[in-house]
Amino acid sequence: MPDTAPEGQYLCHVDEIAERQARGFGPFGTSKRKIVVVRKDGRYFGWLDSCPHYSTGTPMAWKTDAYLNGERTHLTCHSHGALFEIETGDCVLGPCLGQTLTRVNIRISDEGGIFVATSLTEEKK
Ligand code: FES
Repeated sequence: MPDTAPEGQYLCHVDEIAERQARGFGPFGTSKRKIVVVRKDGRYFGWLDSCPHYSTGTPMAWKTDAYLNGERTHLTCHSHGALFEIETGDCVLGPCLGQTLTRVNIRISDEGGIFVATSLTEEKK
């Protein structure tokens, strides 16, 4: 069964995520996975909290919102230490090298609200 993230779902206000911080939201609707939003250099990136190491996808944080490595330079999966580029979701170190996180398109309203921009259907490979 695919995981879904509903279009238009409100996540938080931009001021609720500090620079080089990540937060998880949800899961929403029929999804079993949270949505991770990361702020880097004043930009916001949305990803599904689902490590591509295993085909079933694995939640990446070992505790609430622990999605970044110690230096806060990469997203990380704490199961086996994979590192992912914040901007692209590409795995650059670890057992899923060459694989990519599932992007969640987000939009920011004029008032600074962060929303899911397009409905996401995650097809498992
Ligand atoms: S489950 Fe994420 S690195 Fe292994």
